[in-house]
Parts: sequence; C-alpha cells; structure tokens
Amino acid sequence: MSNYHIKHLEEYYQVYRKSIREPENFWEEVAEEHFLWRKKWENVLSWDFSKPEVKWFEGAKLNITENCIDRHLTTRGDKTAILFEPNNPNEPAEHISYKELSKRVNKFANVLKDKGIEKGDRVCIYLPMIPELAISVLACARIGAIHSVVFAGFSSTALSTRINDSDCKMVITSDGSYRGPKTIDLKGIVDDALEDCPGVQSVLVAKRIHSNISMTEGRDVWLQPLLDQASDFCKAEIMDSEDPLFILYTSGSTGKPKGMVHTIGGYMVYTAYTFKNVFQYREHDVYWCTADIGWITGHSYIVYGPLANGATSLMFEGVPSYPDFGRFWDIVEKHKVNQFYTAPTAIRALAKEGVDLIEKHNLSSLKVLGSVGEPINEEAWHWYNDNIGKKNSPIVDTWWQTETGGIMITPIPFVTPTKPTYATLPFIGIQPALMDEQGNELKGNQVEGRLCIKFPWPSMARTIWGNHERYRDTYFTAFENKYFTGDGALRDEVGYYRITGRVDDVIIVSGHNLGSAPIEDAINEHPAVSESAIVGFPHDIKGNALYGYVILKDTGESRDQNNLRKEINQIITEHIGPIAKLDKIQFTSGLPKTRSGKIMRRILRKIACNDTSNLGDTSTLLNPEVVQDIIDNAL
Ligand code: PRX
Repeated sequence: MSNYHIKHLEEYYQVYRKSIREPENFWEEVAEEHFLWRKKWENVLSWDFSKPEVKWFEGAKLNITENCIDRHLTTRGDKTAILFEPNNPNEPAEHISYKELSKRVNKFANVLKDKGIEKGDRVCIYLPMIPELAISVLACARIGAIHSVVFAGFSSTALSTRINDSDCKMVITSDGSYRGPKTIDLKGIVDDALEDCPGVQSVLVAKRIHSNISMTEGRDVWLQPLLDQASDFCKAEIMDSEDPLFILYTSGSTGKPKGMVHTIGGYMVYTAYTFKNVFQYREHDVYWCTADIGWITGHSYIVYGPLANGATSLMFEGVPSYPDFGRFWDIVEKHKVNQFYTAPTAIRALAKEGVDLIEKHNLSSLKVLGSVGEPINEEAWHWYNDNIGKKNSPIVDTWWQTETGGIMITPIPFVTPTKPTYATLPFIGIQPALMDEQGNELKGNQVEGRLCIKFPWPSMARTIWGNHERYRDTYFTAFENKYFTGDGALRDEVGYYRITGRVDDVIIVSGHNLGSAPIEDAINEHPAVSESAIVGFPHDIKGNALYGYVILKDTGESRDQNNLRKEINQIITEHIGPIAKLDKIQFTSGLPKTRSGKIMRRILRKIACNDTSNLGDTSTLLNPEVVQDIIDNAL
C-alpha cells in the first residue's frame, strides 16, 4: 500500500465524514489506489440488512495472495515477511523473506492440488504457531480453497464438530506442538477427532516435535517430502470478490459454534487499510501481534492485513511465561519490535510478575501498543502505558469481533488522544449506534446502550456457514436494519466509546469467547448431573472466570464433591478444551427459573459476583425459595 497515513485529528474527522457521507466513493478510492485487481468491480456496494445480504466490489476478480505476496516481490523480495520466533529461545529465529514466502506458499498450494483440493473445497488447519500455519492459510487462498483454522488448544470433540459442520475434505496438522516446557500430542487429538469425520480424505502432517506418532495408511502423509517435490510456482486462482476466503468458528450464546464466513475483496481492503492506520506501520518496522492465528486477530492482523501492506509480521510459537515472564520483553528487544499488539489478560498476568524482568530489557524500539479481545481495566491500562510504553507509546484499545473481520472502534495513534478503558472513536467508515431496549437509537453524548452498526463495512462476515437464517436471527433481528454486536457500550461527553461487555450469554475468559450453552451441554454429559448453568464472575487475570451451578441426579448415593468437580472439568476439557474449565462449581438443589422455564442468569451472575444486596425482582420466579439456598451455599 502507498505510504499515506492519517496524520492529525482534524484530518481524521474530515476523512471520517467523507467515509460516512459517500461510503461507496470512499471505499472505491481505497480499493483502487492500493490493491491489485484482475478485473474491476461493476458495483462497489449493494446491501439489504433485512435479508441480510451485503456485497462489496461485486464482479471484481482478484487473488488475495497476489496482493499479500506477488506484488511485493519486485520491491520487497528480500524483506522479511514472517519473522518466526520459536518456543525455545535457543532455537534460532527464522526470517522468511517475501521471496521465500512466495516459494513456500506456491509449493504448498501445489501439494494441496495434488491431493485433490479444488476451488471452494474446505480445508481444516489445526496447527501450532509455526510458519506452516501462515503458509497453509495462504496456500488455500492461492487455489481458492476455503480455510477453516481451528485453534490448536481445542479438544478432539470441538475439532470434529467444526470439521463436520463445514464438510472439510482435508486436515493439516503437525506431529505435535511445543507449549513452554511441555509438548502436546496434536496428531493424537486429530486421530481421535477423525473417528467421527467420515468426510476427511487426507491429513497432511508437518514435523515439529519429532515424536512417534501413528500414521493411517492411505489417509495421512508427511508434508515435507511432498513440499520437496512440488514446483515453486502455482498459478493464482482468479476469484470473485465475494467468494468465501475462510470460515472461522466463534461461540454463540446458544447452540453449536457459528462458522463465520468472510469473503475476499472487502476483507482484504478493510484489514489492510485498518492495519496501516491503526498501527501506523512504516516500511522498516517490525510488527508483532501475540495472538494465535487460530483466532480472528491472527487471521486479520498477523497474516492478511500486515502482508497486504508488505510488512514484517512476527509470529511467536511459545507462551509469555517461558522460560520466564520476561519472554515478551526479550523478544521485543531481540527483534526491535515497533508495534506490539496483545490482550488485556496477558497484560494483567505480566503485571503480576513485577517490573524486574522488564527493566532488564531495552524496549525503546516500541512506538505503538495495542490491546484487543476484552475491555482493558484502568489498572492494566496504566501499567501497560507506564512500564511498557514508558508513557511514549500510545495504546490503541481496539474493539472488534470475529464477525466484523477488522478493527471497528479504536484510537489512531498520534492522532486520537487516548483515554484509559476507552476504545475511543469509530474507525473510518464505521457508523456505530447505541440503542435502548425498546429499539430507539440514543442520540447525542453521555448515553449508554446496546452497540449496533448502522451501515455495512467491507470486512463484515456475510453469513454463518450452512445457516443463513441463524446469521439473520443472531445479528439482524434485535434492532431493525442494524447489525447488533452483542456488546453494551457508552458514549462519553466527547463522543468516545467505552465497551462495557457482553449483554448476552457469551462470556469472555482470558480474551476467549465462550458460549454458556456448549459448556453446559458438556457438563450435562456427566452421568451424575441433571442440570447446570454457568455464568462469569470477575477474575484478576482472566478478566472473567466461569462459575458453574450444578444440580446432581438424586441417586441415593453420596459422592465426593471434589472428585465430581474434577470429573466435570475433565469432561469440559474433552468436549471443548482446557480454556473452558470452571473455576468454581457449586452443587445446588435447583436453579432460579421463570415461569416459562428459562434460567434467570441475572440472579446467578450476581451471586457469583458476591453481590446479593440487590437481586431485583424475584417474584416472577417459579421457585423463589431456591435463591436463598444458593446464596447460603455460594463459594
Ligand atoms: O465483547 C467484545 C470483546 O470480544 C468480543 C469479540 O470476541 P471475538 O469474536 O473472539 O474477537 C476477539 C478479537 C477481535 C466482542 O464482542 N472485545 C474485543 N475487543 C474488545 C472487546 N471488549 C472491549 N474492548 C475491546 N478492545
């Protein structure tokens, strides 16, 4: 992309106003100026939120890998595209140049083709944070296959659900992964998952930990020998702007995970444009986002956004605590990181360790700090600002979602004055609205309500894979003609936004979106459990932790409650993954329910938060007596 950045607040307002008054002209200019299209669009935007249907750059043809790789080869061929920092600090970092990335992506794309993957096929990627993860994502995009990356901390059941939901034909994995001092048997998890996935025809296995794994004849193949034989040129498939680029699963408050579908043209334009402006990336900068590519943050701001700008994007395999809690700062110093983008949960965990490990490192390369995934509390904000940014590096508190594809509300560094805990102003082209519960838009400042978006933006998800009705019902029916985010927010006296948190039954734990329903379903699988409800409660490091209320079946036998707690968490680990384990489990005789049988989570939430002074009206409950019992036995 060209070198142009927004430079001051007045200019932000000017550009913002233009983007709102003439959105089509605005985005057309961005798209024309900065990208490589094989054919221009016939229409910039068509939309109808009642269907809902949104199309950007309709009729245009392109391949996103030509934008992320090929077009940089003449000007930045030797520049590092991906800087890989391994789990073990003694293993050398790998600098993958744009030329090298091109070769590796092309080879990988040819391997996919040889294995029978065609345009439109779904490929599941279940890999640790090693270069093959980014490369396989790009290889899919090269041939028009739709990638579905599943975070490699998910369990085999969670993996098989996602593989089957989108009928993936292939799985790409590794023999295992490193996680700090531990290794994880990823291939074993894949083998378990595939017992329930008849549609998977082949498994490509990257070698990482050199462990002894079993390979299923006719299905599993080692990746490296295939790459060695493959040609390093694979013609880019010419795609339609509105063809799907990927599916990424996110939790809903009910039902199975939602496979959010993102399409190529709009996603590319928006992630590239936001990356450039939100991080103020300059040509020789080293940018580091600590997320995993298994989440949307990694898709948009480790892979596509940075590479579309010809940036150097650092990819870290390990964890912040290994070999000690100074690892992040060690990496910042070693690679002279200029932009550092992480989550509040990591900031809180590191803040707990004190400043000694920071002071050993030179962090003077840092220019911009980012935060994403959950609200950042004031204390963490100041700690980040004082100790990491040394009050010199603006913090961009970026609010967005898997569904939005890119950053939506954020300061622009050196342009928007920051304010702790505030995501501040809408990004260019974004039209937020705060709504009251009756569906009226709250105008003016100093208001608080439900956060909606009134107008389409290029990188919004287009549907839920295989279930367009659910897409409409979840996001477009709560408020007429608006996209509903599921978050609450307030707008202060100058128009800055502060996100107050989810208003539905999604709970954000350590920045991970967890729906209550799938966790309750897992708990209810335990033979001794008859019913359960989970809610979030504040936690110093995780932001929220999970509190479960569990009703046991009356079997007449007495059971050891601590063992039961362990077994319940074990089941959750098997069904979802360790991230969804409960911190507290209270056994109870009943759950507060409305007359229509709905669990009143509001009350359970208050009890979990130890805030029982004002439980609100409980008279409409079917079983009000149960409330006191739960309070008396609260943990
Ligand atoms: O509640 C908001 C919270 O994370 C949710 C989206 O989660 P996910 O789809 O996993 O994407 C996370 C990474 C983009 C939102 O609905 N959230 C995300 N960023 C922020 C945030 N809450 C407050 N402040 C943020 N900066």
